[in-house]
Formats: sequence, structure tokens, C-alpha cells
Amino acid sequence: MALLPIRRYGDPVLRRKARPVEQFDADLQRLIQDMFQTMYAEPGVGLAAPQVGVSSRVVVIDVSPAGKKKEPMALINPRIVRTRGRLSGEEGCLSFPGISVKIVRPEWVSVTAVNEKGLPVTVEGDGLLGRCLQHELDHLDGKMMIDRITLNQKVRVWWEIRQLKKRGLWGS
Ligand code: NI
Repeated sequence: MALLPIRRYGDPVLRRKARPVEQFDADLQRLIQDMFQTMYAEPGVGLAAPQVGVSSRVVVIDVSPAGKKKEPMALINPRIVRTRGRLSGEEGCLSFPGISVKIVRPEWVSVTAVNEKGLPVTVEGDGLLGRCLQHELDHLDGKMMIDRITLNQKVRVWWEIRQLKKRGLWGS
């Protein structure tokens, strides 16, 4: 397993529409293992393959509370099939280290995907899981949280990124 460098906002790979996975081979298993290791090391609750420079429709998620049993979930070629409600909530992103923004999204979602073995799975949830699913799936379409906020919020985020860069806290 290996820790993978995380691409920051501004990296063109984050803007690409990721390709569907067709081969459930050893390379895919290695990518998933590396993504879990990288996500847990950060730490984060979700990571999408484009964030580690791989333009494939793969996300890993684990929203289990710190110190509790891990609940790793790998979703391949995921798709949102149903949503309910609307709710504003705070979000962060490993590609925007040190930044958090309020985003309005559906409160509950149902997602179909296949798991790492290629078997169909359905994941449904609200709260942190619902928000995380939507956030990570956005990455597969080249979308980021900056695209879901108001101009005023964007101006604040750009300013914060500038400050973080000046202090050397933004990374590569
Ligand atoms: Ni993100």
C-alpha cells in the first residue's frame, strides 16, 4: 500500500469528467487500498480517485466516528438515483485543505454503484453520509464545492486560499 499525494484545487485533473471503470483487476484493487490508506492518513471521510490524479469513477468513504469500528466503503461507477429534502451544512475537502464552506444539498440520497468485487450495491443516507456521498460523486464529474456556493462565499474562499499559500499551508 502507498500514500498518494492529494491534488489541490487548481489541478486540471480535478476538472475532468472521470471515466467509468471497466476492469475489476489488480490495478483497481491497489488503487482502492491506496485511496483508503491516504484518506485515513489525512484524515478524511471520503476521497475520490481524481483527487489522487486518477480520472476513474471510484470513491472511498468511511464516515464512522473516530475510535469506533471502521466502515470502509468503495463505490465504483456510482450514480445518485433518488434524493429528498434540502439542507445546508458545513463541508471540507482534502483538495481544499484548511477551508470549510456551507453548502445546500439534498438532505437524503440513494446511490447505486458496484463494489470493489464488481457486485451491485445501494447506499442510502442522510447526515454526514448523505453529504459525503454527494460531495465525492461531484468529484467524478469534475465538480467541487466551490461550484456550489455563492459569489460572496467564493470571494472568501479565494482570499483564504491566498492567505494559506502565503503561509505555506496550501501544499503543492
Ligand atoms: Ni472533496
